Amino acid sequence: MGIHRLTLLSLVWNLETQAMQKSIEELRAQFLQQLVQVKTSENLEQIKVKFLGKKGPVQQLMQALRDLDTHQRPLAGKQVNELKEFITMKCECLEKELIIYEEEEQLADETLDITLSGRKNYSGRKHPLTQAMDAIIAILSGLGFSVQYGPDIDTDYYNFEVLNFSTDHPARDMQDTFYLSPHILLRTHTSNVQARVMEVNKPPIRIIAPGKVYRNESITARSHVFFHQVEAVYIDKNVTFGDLFSTLDDFLSKLFKKEIVTRYRPSYFPFVEPGVEVDISCLMCRKEGCPLCKYSGWVEVAGAGMIHPEVLRNGGIDAEQYTGFAWGIGVERIVMMLRGVDDIRLFTENDLRFLRQFTSL
Ligand code: PHE
Repeated sequence: MGIHRLTLLSLVWNLETQAMQKSIEELRAQFLQQLVQVKTSENLEQIKVKFLGKKGPVQQLMQALRDLDTHQRPLAGKQVNELKEFITMKCECLEKELIIYEEEEQLADETLDITLSGRKNYSGRKHPLTQAMDAIIAILSGLGFSVQYGPDIDTDYYNFEVLNFSTDHPARDMQDTFYLSPHILLRTHTSNVQARVMEVNKPPIRIIAPGKVYRNESITARSHVFFHQVEAVYIDKNVTFGDLFSTLDDFLSKLFKKEIVTRYRPSYFPFVEPGVEVDISCLMCRKEGCPLCKYSGWVEVAGAGMIHPEVLRNGGIDAEQYTGFAWGIGVERIVMMLRGVDDIRLFTENDLRFLRQFTSL
């Protein structure tokens, strides 16, 4: 009888142990099957939690151990522990591999192609005409001239009359001058500052007047309806024609940073006597001929002369005691040669591709 009971008991134990072992094996197989599908460390973490977590199957087996007979518990406990270690070890190994792989992928993503050209950061800069104006003012300031400004909108009196233009002078013609009313106009030259300066200053007078001027001309590669001039006026005792030449030559050579060949042609302006037009040898084509110099090798850059006694008198200056010279240079023409610009219209088109090319003089 005793033997019988024992046999029966051990049979039940065996059955329970076998069931436990079967569950362990199934779980191991399930785990391995799911592990091979893991692609990311995030996936792996999910699987780890799923199998080893508090409510997971391994933990359940641990709890089931309590229900086993004390004889069976050590062996079954050992097997469950082995399963737990097996899962933990497998997860750790795969985790290491995945981390390396993911790091490599991230690095590949972040690789910099240093052969790609960078994005340019353009800094603002002054317009080439402003740059030239600044340079002109700096040079003439260095020669003792101070800067004066006159109005763009002016009267017929300051632009023409005080400068000895007769009432029927062709320059007053509507063809050339933009009149705003019968006596108000857009100045056609910076000479409109001459009488203004004389009215308020006593000689010696040494001024320059930079600014815009306006003329009703057709717009071409060489001429525009508005452009810039710099007027220079020097009045003192014994100012001579020689002073005019030497000052202008010196100024031009300083501006172009080399010896400039000038040509003075007799010309007529009502407010000077004698008057000249000043050419410089064309730096665009080096005298070979181009549209800027009209294939002559020379470019007119200024009008100049000794200030007419009548103009000095109109300005309240004693023409017996004082003489003076004046010149008016055209800034665009000079900048065109200085910077190799072949069309005056480019200055006013605001095309950044053009403007970006000019770093300071
Ligand atoms: N004002 C003249 C012009 O615009 C230039 C000039 C200035 C001529 C001074 C003589 C003296 O054409």
